[in-house]
Amino acid sequence: MKKALYYIVPVLLTLAIGALGSYIQMPSITTWYPTLTKSSLTPPAIVFPIAWTILYILMGLSIGRLVAIGDMSIVRLWLLQLLVNFLWSVTFFSLRSPLLGLITILILVVLVFAYTLYAFSIDRIAGWLFVPYLIWLLFATYLTGYIYLNNSTAYTLSAANSTKSITITAPQNSQYTMPALPYPSDALEPTMSQETIDFHYGKHLKGYLDNLNRLIVGSPFENLPLEQVVKLSDGAIFNNAAQVANHTLFFDSMTPDSTTISKRLERAIIRDFGSVEQFKQEFSAAAKSLFGSGWVWLVEDSNGNLSIVSTPNADTPIRQGLYPLLVLDVWEHAYYIDYRNRRADFIERWWDIVDWRKVDNRFVDR
Ligand SMILES: [Fe+2]
Repeated sequence: MKKALYYIVPVLLTLAIGALGSYIQMPSITTWYPTLTKSSLTPPAIVFPIAWTILYILMGLSIGRLVAIGDMSIVRLWLLQLLVNFLWSVTFFSLRSPLLGLITILILVVLVFAYTLYAFSIDRIAGWLFVPYLIWLLFATYLTGYIYLNNSTAYTLSAANSTKSITITAPQNSQYTMPALPYPSDALEPTMSQETIDFHYGKHLKGYLDNLNRLIVGSPFENLPLEQVVKLSDGAIFNNAAQVANHTLFFDSMTPDSTTISKRLERAIIRDFGSVEQFKQEFSAAAKSLFGSGWVWLVEDSNGNLSIVSTPNADTPIRQGLYPLLVLDVWEHAYYIDYRNRRADFIERWWDIVDWRKVDNRFVDR
């Protein structure tokens, strides 16, 4: 019985710490994590609880085996790595800091590597029980590093599941930074050329951002999250802030990958538009008929109903208390290099590069 406790206690302890970590991670896994620029190797969110449950059990069995053999000296190192493991949940997922997450997980890798080596020197099985954990950590380190390198300077356009709004974090030192482009600049070719991206993202968006950063200094909106600036300001500050927010959503709504509409979003589209085809037709018609410059949006209201909204110039449905799921930029600069004056061709081709995963992430479905 006593021997069984050597295994049961650490397994239960790890599972308890794991459950607490998962609880902390939950909001980020559903809202923040899917919005990050990730490598294609990034596992879907459901993989995390499954993998971690297995790893925690193996982790508990490993130390249980060493304690059963009579080696207590390793317990402190085992507890320390468990603590750092938990800290990684806090730094990366709760604080949403890729840098702190990367530092924490590097420390964790060193600790786990040291434990594994020691465990092998005492008992081969105890060592092997830690190997899957070490491999998973190396993989997680790679992903954390990748996310740090690709997202650290971006404000994150978060999915709206919990807040039902576009959240762009408060600027650092009163200055907003360029959102990361979630794909290489030539990735959307031939639908959207690299030259168009270079101008649209690199010059037009950058121009709005630079203007905003210049105008915001000393204004009542200094240090506010961008969404608040969009909601509260007017004049030049509003125009530039809204254009930054609109473009951030636009560039974050496209992908070179082939994506499909999720079942739950499809059900809502059929409910509110009759069919997906009908929705696309109505959306395209709104985009084609929008006079001058502006935006066409798929939005959700506070009751979960979907509708199509057109806004002129920099205007945004956020001001009407609506929640954007998808947006198309129909300013001429969005298509003129590739399609000249053929806006209709641009609109029809654009559907090929819509990232339905992102749209689904923003959809609350209440
Ligand atoms: Fe634009």
